[in-house]
Amino acid sequence: MSAARRFRIAAIPADGVGREVVAAGREVLDALAAGSGGAFAFDWQEFGWGCEYYARTGRMMADDGLTVLKEFDAIYFGAVGWPGVPDHISLWGLRLAICQNFDQWANVRPVRFLPGVQSPLRKADDTELDWVVVRENSEGEYAGLGGRNLSARGPGSEVAVQSALFTEAGCERIMRFAFDLARTRTRRKVSSVTKSNAQQYGMVLWDDVFRRVARDYPDVETESVLVDAMSAKFVLRPEDLSVVVASNLHADILSDLGSALAGSLGLAASANLNPERRFPSMFEPVHGSAPDIAGQGLANPIGAVGSAAMMLDHLGLPEQAARLHAAIEATTAAGILTRDLGGAASTEDVTKALIGALNP
Ligand code: NAI
Ligand code: MG
Repeated sequence: MSAARRFRIAAIPADGVGREVVAAGREVLDALAAGSGGAFAFDWQEFGWGCEYYARTGRMMADDGLTVLKEFDAIYFGAVGWPGVPDHISLWGLRLAICQNFDQWANVRPVRFLPGVQSPLRKADDTELDWVVVRENSEGEYAGLGGRNLSARGPGSEVAVQSALFTEAGCERIMRFAFDLARTRTRRKVSSVTKSNAQQYGMVLWDDVFRRVARDYPDVETESVLVDAMSAKFVLRPEDLSVVVASNLHADILSDLGSALAGSLGLAASANLNPERRFPSMFEPVHGSAPDIAGQGLANPIGAVGSAAMMLDHLGLPEQAARLHAAIEATTAAGILTRDLGGAASTEDVTKALIGALNP
């Protein structure tokens, strides 16, 4: 069948449950396209990169991988990492290689509370909670700058330096992104996460840029909160959050906390965006490869499916994204939950329910 709009999507399931949830997400997206009456369709190409590929070839992705990926409309990613390959090798060799080379500098990680899912927060039962973590995704603590030295002096003598890079341009673009996002939300507020009491260079620059950018958005409320206090605030006063902008490391940690508060790491979706659209953006669940449950049909596909919804938004299909979100809510509200949420449904059960909810 020929469709009016065709999107070329590169699928990189990679490792562990990444494979199960990407397969689930593809099924759901294809069902959505099939129900669109030819309005749009996906041309998938799957790449078998990851830790198994590394074991065979000594590389996490093909030599010309980035050149090949550059031609796609978007990348749909699973999770990378498997016992036997050091995590810094697998992460830098695939996920970070893509994020950094494609300048996907904005990582958007919504924290969504779903009907039928119990939160460990008692407050969630009777409070409207909904916030987005905006993560600086190109520099900061994950700039990859540093080195190890002096190992030749013998055991116990080695030193390592891991430097964080904060550029004014990098801080400014992620903060403007956060403020622009806040303007689209009911609560127009940006909370900046900092640690400028202890880190007097990078984080003080971060704070200075935040204050400067905030002046251009007088209609948006602001606050600046130390990362330790922000962790407490996520638990104690989450109703006070709307958009939370944070550095690479801080947002990485806080978004796992956010998804745990929403009920499970398996629920959390994310988009790695190159807002200028010079390169394809990448959509992936927040969770990792979960070796403890991989291959057993236990993986929660909702994080991956929510990431697919973010991809639809990015591709200019917001109504379809909304349909997908509605299907997710209908599925959890009906109590069709995987084990991480206290249910007994398999990955496949949830996938089927999602597809059923798309075309009721
Ligand atoms: P993880 O996110 O894989 O697992 C943490 C816990 O959450 C485990 O108990 C797991 O069973 C559970 N979990 C994760 N995803 C789930 C899902 N979809 N459904 C149900 N339960 C789920 O983090 P962990 O264990 O720290 O790391 C495992 C591997 O993943 C490592 O190699 C790590 O480097 C890699 N990793 C990769 C990421 C990525 O590709 N973006 C992100 C985080 C970790
Ligand atoms: Mg993380």
